[in-house]
Amino acid sequence: MLKVKVVGTGSFLPPNRVTNFDLAERMDTSDEWIRSRTGIHTRHLLDPGAPPAQMGVEAARAALAAAQLPPAQVDVLIAATNVSEQPVPGTAPHIAAGLDLPNEPAFLDLKAGCSGFVYGVALAGAALAAGVFRCALVVGIEALSRFVDWTDRRTCVLFGDGAGAVVLTPSPDEAAILGVSLHGDHGKLALLRVEAGGVRLPASVDTVKKGLHFLKMEGEGVFRAAVPMMEQATREALHQAGLAPQDITWLIPHQANLRIIRPLAARLGIPEERVVINIDRVANTSTASIPIALDELRRAGRLSPGDVVALTAFGAGAAYGTVILRW
Ligand code: UT7
Repeated sequence: MLKVKVVGTGSFLPPNRVTNFDLAERMDTSDEWIRSRTGIHTRHLLDPGAPPAQMGVEAARAALAAAQLPPAQVDVLIAATNVSEQPVPGTAPHIAAGLDLPNEPAFLDLKAGCSGFVYGVALAGAALAAGVFRCALVVGIEALSRFVDWTDRRTCVLFGDGAGAVVLTPSPDEAAILGVSLHGDHGKLALLRVEAGGVRLPASVDTVKKGLHFLKMEGEGVFRAAVPMMEQATREALHQAGLAPQDITWLIPHQANLRIIRPLAARLGIPEERVVINIDRVANTSTASIPIALDELRRAGRLSPGDVVALTAFGAGAAYGTVILRW
């Protein structure tokens, strides 16, 4: 099996930055409530009418530029997202079109809740390691503002829009994917859901009237499950890598809630200065949260060769998992 590493990262946030104070003008909420319950101060929201896939195109372009690779190199594109650009076809072909990828690469959408990006890196890594592909583009992209219920203050204040991307290739050096742990607990599949618009309950006047196309979340159930899931997956992936939590240079958790991130770090014994947190600025961008945080870390010059990076997420399904990388 070949070793596989991340050779480029990129991200994109839509320019419209919305503060908690802005939301408090539109609904019965407050900066104090949102900040103290979640750690979120602001989020970026896609303008109505703007094509969501373009965020993925921008993030992917930046990742390819950072990798110093031309689009022609990409032979597989994975778009991790919860809700595709349109039901058929999905988001990946729209990103491929926006990038004008010349070599007709394989492309697919991957739906694994907020863990989709971690799943995408793990699966692309395995395919590259087996020699099936030679250059993978994995994009985490989400326009949650388009399917949250803006009258439900329990969910709409939590989310933001954005995209992040990485380029993966076989690695000639020590940098590599060292460990992977992916799981799904189907007993929790009702915790986060969009009930209508699929084949179980196709769109109808009635489903729209009832607001069944909006994201519903059992916040407390998700909250309680998240920390043990990410801790378990991280310990398993570390074990596979022959490492321990104290070896982690950077823990990059899915940015769902500061009150989830902090206990996770505490249970793993990782000090806060080694935990990457941007939920205050970007809120929960679902599948995009980890690649955005990874790209910000790299662009800030805080990643060094040899660093051990843990990407860990949980989300709808309930899918969860961790990938351990040596940078
Ligand atoms: O990516 C994965 C997706 N989601 C998550 O990871 C989220 C996980 N869950 C959470 O982060 C937390 O459960 C929340 C932040 C969603 C909620 O925090 P909580 O402490 O569990 O609040 P709650 O839902 O129990 O609500 C407490 C109170 C309620 O008022 P009453 O019934 O006690 O009078 C809510 O109506 O807070 C009220 N409330 C709000 N007040 C102001 C709920 N949302 C808001 C709001 N502004 N936006």
